[in-house]
Amino acid sequence: MNRLMISPLAVLSATLIAALPAAAQGSGKIKVGLMLPATGTFAALGTAIENGFKLYVAEQGGKLGGREIEYFKVDDESDPAKATDNVNKLVKRDNVDVLVGTVHSGVAMAMARVAKETGTLLIVPNAGADAITGAMCAKNIFRTSFSNWQPGYAMGVVAAQKNYKRAMTITWNYAAGNEMVKGFNEGFEKGGGKVMKDLTLPFPNVEFQALLTEIAAQKPDVVFAFFAGGGAVKFVKDYDAAGLRKTIPLVGTGFLTDGTLEAQGASAQGLITTLHYADNLETPRNEAFRKAYALTYKANADVYAVQGYDAAQLLGAGITLVRGDISRRDDIVLAMRKTIINSPRGKLAMSTAHNPVQDFYIREAKGKNNESVGIAVKALADPARGCKN
Ligand code: BEZ
Repeated sequence: MNRLMISPLAVLSATLIAALPAAAQGSGKIKVGLMLPATGTFAALGTAIENGFKLYVAEQGGKLGGREIEYFKVDDESDPAKATDNVNKLVKRDNVDVLVGTVHSGVAMAMARVAKETGTLLIVPNAGADAITGAMCAKNIFRTSFSNWQPGYAMGVVAAQKNYKRAMTITWNYAAGNEMVKGFNEGFEKGGGKVMKDLTLPFPNVEFQALLTEIAAQKPDVVFAFFAGGGAVKFVKDYDAAGLRKTIPLVGTGFLTDGTLEAQGASAQGLITTLHYADNLETPRNEAFRKAYALTYKANADVYAVQGYDAAQLLGAGITLVRGDISRRDDIVLAMRKTIINSPRGKLAMSTAHNPVQDFYIREAKGKNNESVGIAVKALADPARGCKN
């Protein structure tokens, strides 16, 4: 992240805090609705996000802005067909103050629609659906992760720099896959490459064999893939078992290897991906975060844990400014817009569309870690096409 860009905003934040009227301390618990997958191919991602969120709150003594946090939970199963009913359980039945979710882009779109209709504050800690901070952007909707376009575009830039000329892509046929592929194609073709064919299969199908056979027959210079969670484990293993790694390099957005390296074993070693986080960032913030996470959960932190942790930090910035008075919605939103989050990934600023402006790392899978081996694109902002915030 370009620090020169950040310091004026930090100053603005401080000015903003000074300018706002002093608030009475709010009382009672703040109700946070966690809508995440607890089952299915993205279950581990949901757990890591919840762990990250709760870790930050626990570090603040269980409170944000002086108010205790009470959690309400729904397992969204990464099922878009159940998404509207599920989010309404939190908004209408549990009457939550804030919604936090989710992993799957299609489910998150339903959450964004309900948030827009009801004015409920929504923080998206993973799902990258471009429209959430694009055509559907809204004052009350924030994201602490990425837009699908961002990591895809970054990998396209890197693949072109590596001098690959002919690429094939493979992913699940839903918003996240299609939009990451679109971003990859944009970056790759801008750098002089040509995408021969985009291959897809339905989410969350993992029968890759027919598509791998087609890749072997077409012999591209490189294959770009988006899969995550359980699907990523199976894809990386199948690609290797088919003998393709020896002849056709595999690259992807970092979800291909994040939180999955132990299960993927040797088949993932050396894979190059792009993402807004790498395990080995040698900053005191990242090192302290990883240590606390490992101690608390007996597991290694991954990008999903970071995004959950930062969702809590972002909410904390808003609620602290109003000293816990959750009714001061406009002031909370303004504070969240202007805050600079001290994230384990580096300093994080929100765009006017409420999506992170952040560095994208080139990572290499080494042992149990995705290690940064360079920067793909610095301070990359989503184009936020159609956003009128
Ligand atoms: C998505 O559906 O937006 C998504 C899911 C898993 C990892 C990254 C993105």
